[in-house]
Amino acid sequence: DRGEHRHYMHKEIHEQPATLARAFSNLLNLDNSSLNGAVADVSFEGVNRIVLVACGTAYYAASVAKYWFESLANLPVELDIASEFRYRSAPLRADDLAIFVSQSGETADTLAALRHVKGKVKTSLAVINVPTSSIAREADHALEIMAGPEIGVASTKAFSGQLALLAALALKAGKDQGLVDADRERQLVTGMAGLPRLIAETIEIEPLVQEFATTMTTVRDALFLGRGALAPLALEAALKLKEISYIHAEGYAAGELKHGPIALLDKDVPVIVFAASGPLFEKTMSNVQEVAARGAPVLMVTDPQGAALAQEVGLKTLVVPSTAEVLAPFTHTIVAQLLAYHVAVLKGTDVDQPRNLAKSVTVE
Ligand code: F6R
Repeated sequence: DRGEHRHYMHKEIHEQPATLARAFSNLLNLDNSSLNGAVADVSFEGVNRIVLVACGTAYYAASVAKYWFESLANLPVELDIASEFRYRSAPLRADDLAIFVSQSGETADTLAALRHVKGKVKTSLAVINVPTSSIAREADHALEIMAGPEIGVASTKAFSGQLALLAALALKAGKDQGLVDADRERQLVTGMAGLPRLIAETIEIEPLVQEFATTMTTVRDALFLGRGALAPLALEAALKLKEISYIHAEGYAAGELKHGPIALLDKDVPVIVFAASGPLFEKTMSNVQEVAARGAPVLMVTDPQGAALAQEVGLKTLVVPSTAEVLAPFTHTIVAQLLAYHVAVLKGTDVDQPRNLAKSVTVE
């Protein structure tokens, strides 16, 4: 039931404060600010590498998680899309922990990739939304994101649910590797526990996102940029826009811009930049100024501190709440989802059932 919402996708975007509150109440023990439940039982002892495999939006969640496993646990991460991973004879080791991320749990390539690693790695984990699915049944351990049924073909609340679970897993990995102490754990758990409220606040800027969306209905191409854990988010934002609005969009790591894609830019190519204040902000800003110099319309999605700096140089901003830097993907993704949604609605496309797409891709 869509309730008051015109589309399932809109309903599912708006459900995220609730779905994340549920996920975090399952993942975190708020009484003593520590991890809880199935993630707390996963052991990274003796694990020397993480293998992360998924398709589409789930792959972008895994791509964000790569930054987390590296920064919190200092673990090398082998990350790939399932359709490549399963055929490319990637070396596998007995001290690898392999993670397969899939909302449906039925994606053919992801399932085949899971079967491919069985018996070759230490443990396989499935990060799934459907506990009865094939991937959930065949992995050594299944971890549920608890997003509830996702009907819109474009994934929204499952993506944030995947991020939540993977963030908790990376924190557990950091503890087991001796890099995250009790203080840091408390700090991160408190940060995660606060996300449902910050996401609710982010959703409140929907009218501003909708207003920006009106400037994008006639464009042919759009570019999304980010750095650090917001670089994969730029790719996810581009995928979301392509899927439901049929506008050609690309996501790039901001630093890669001058290695080619900057040639595309002119006044007709909007550039949407995800940037959280912090050590990478200045670098992103200098990339953005190169973009602005080509006459491309720029929108900076950033927190209040970042917005103050961006506005000083005359850039248009959309302000999301501040978070700990590692948690910025959670708020920024809401803007990406709302933007794709409103552009699609304004263009009159079939938002919940985009052409040529299926919710669950069970053939390779
Ligand atoms: C994009 C989208 C797809 C899926 C992909 C994997 O919005 O929904 O890219 O993310 O087909 O699906 P699952 O997660 O079911 O394996």
